[in-house]
Amino acid sequence: MCLQSYQYCTVILFFLCLNSLLNARETHIVGDTYGWTDSTNFSSWTAGKEFHVGDLLVFNYDNMVHNVLQVNSTAYEGCIKDTYAEKFDGGNDTLLLSEVGKYWFICGVSDHCENGQKLGIVAIP
Ligand SMILES: *[C@@H]1O[C@H](CO)[C@@H](O)[C@H](O)[C@H]1NC(C)=O
Ligand SMILES: *[C@@H]1O[C@H](CO)[C@@H](O)[C@H](O)[C@H]1NC(C)=O
Ligand SMILES: *[C@@H]1O[C@H](CO)[C@@H](O)[C@H](O)[C@H]1NC(C)=O
Repeated sequence: MCLQSYQYCTVILFFLCLNSLLNARETHIVGDTYGWTDSTNFSSWTAGKEFHVGDLLVFNYDNMVHNVLQVNSTAYEGCIKDTYAEKFDGGNDTLLLSEVGKYWFICGVSDHCENGQKLGIVAIP
C-alpha cells in the first residue's frame, strides 16, 4: 500500500509517531515539588493522573526523615511497617512500573503513614 499511495503512507506514519509519543514513558515526581512528605495529600496528587506500565515514579525526600516502603493493600490500609516487599531510603528513588496492577507505598518512619504519607496507584497497560 505504501507503494500505491505515498500520501496515505505519510498519514499512517504521522499517526504511528503521534501514538508512540502519547505512549512515551512518563516520569511522575511523587507529590511534585512538595515531594514525598507527611504533609502532602497524595489522594489529590493522584487524582486525574494515569499511570502506565513503563512509567517511572520518583520519590524525592529527606532520607533522614522519611523512607519508602512498598507494601501490600493490608499494610497500606493499616500502616503496617514490618511486612514490606521493598524498602527505599535513598531520598531520590526511581521505581519502574514494570507490570499492570496496584502499587502501594507508605512511609515507614514514625506515624507518617497514619498522618497520610501513603500512596496507592494503579498501573494500566
Ligand atoms: C486529600 O484530598 C482528597 C481529594 O482531593 C480529599 O477528599 C481529602 O479529604 C484530602 N485529605 C486530607 C487529609 O486533607
Ligand atoms: C499482606 O502481607 C501480610 C504479611 O505478609 C499478609 O498477612 C497479608 O495477608 C497480605 N495481604 C494481602 C492482601 O495480600
Ligand atoms: C535524582 O536522580 C536522578 C538520576 O537517578 C538525577 O538525574 C536527579 O538529578 C536526582 N535528583 C536529585 C534531586 O538529586
